Amino acid sequence: MSVINTNYSKYFNDLLNDSPKISSLLEGCHFRNSTFEIWFKHRSFIADAIDQGGTFLDIGCANGFLLLCLKEWTKVNLIPYGIDSDLEHIKDCKVLFPEYKNNFLHLPLNELYSTGQLIPFGLCHWPLIKHIEIFSNYCFPTNFDYIYWNVWDNWEFNTIDSLTPVGWLKQTRLNPNGRLILGFYCKENSENMKKINQLQRLGLKFEKVVENPYGQSPVVAYLKS
Ligand SMILES: C[S@@+](CC[C@H](N)C(=O)[O-])C[C@H]1O[C@@H](n2cnc3c(N)ncnc32)[C@H](O)[C@@H]1O
Repeated sequence: MSVINTNYSKYFNDLLNDSPKISSLLEGCHFRNSTFEIWFKHRSFIADAIDQGGTFLDIGCANGFLLLCLKEWTKVNLIPYGIDSDLEHIKDCKVLFPEYKNNFLHLPLNELYSTGQLIPFGLCHWPLIKHIEIFSNYCFPTNFDYIYWNVWDNWEFNTIDSLTPVGWLKQTRLNPNGRLILGFYCKENSENMKKINQLQRLGLKFEKVVENPYGQSPVVAYLKS
């Protein structure tokens, strides 16, 4: 099956035409031994959460390939931003997005929310000041129209504290009418739904929960600011 699509940009079609390059981009996104067709089935429906252009932060962006794909799949004007705890990934993002070199930071998520003064909010606590200092030191926006976090597999949401990043991102890092999109990547969708149900039990109200229409993981859930 050809992956070439006339709606894609020339840059993107040229990448798709280069099989070794695409394989290495997928590997660099932790999507091992796979193809673009399979990647498309696992990720393209995330684009349905994006209804207009704006700034888009991917937390745990790896080499930025998901961001590049979302720009192609949505066709709205998305300005990509990413943070990742792995410096090599951030270097790769700057190569993939030469025009947005300053939009990628080597920064672990937990460094943003686990430092600073903790304030109680509803069920959980989160830091007040530190993250703003960190972002402004790098001339990075402090708020975004969209934030995507592919919740790491080992994140169980079985304690109130494990909710902290979700509450903090939703309440303090989104622009008005912004959207926090959580991606649940456990192999079995039943595991993903268990986490979503757990979050609902802990008080989160999702705007929408969408299972992958291709019938595999992930499941994504949206929260409004
Ligand atoms: C599976 S990849 C996700 C790539 C892309 N966002 C996607 O959804 O396909 C997960 C990424 O999260 C990064 N990561 C893991 N723990 C992190 C942390 N505490 N802070 C920031 N990034 C982290 C890893 O380095 C890795 O690149």
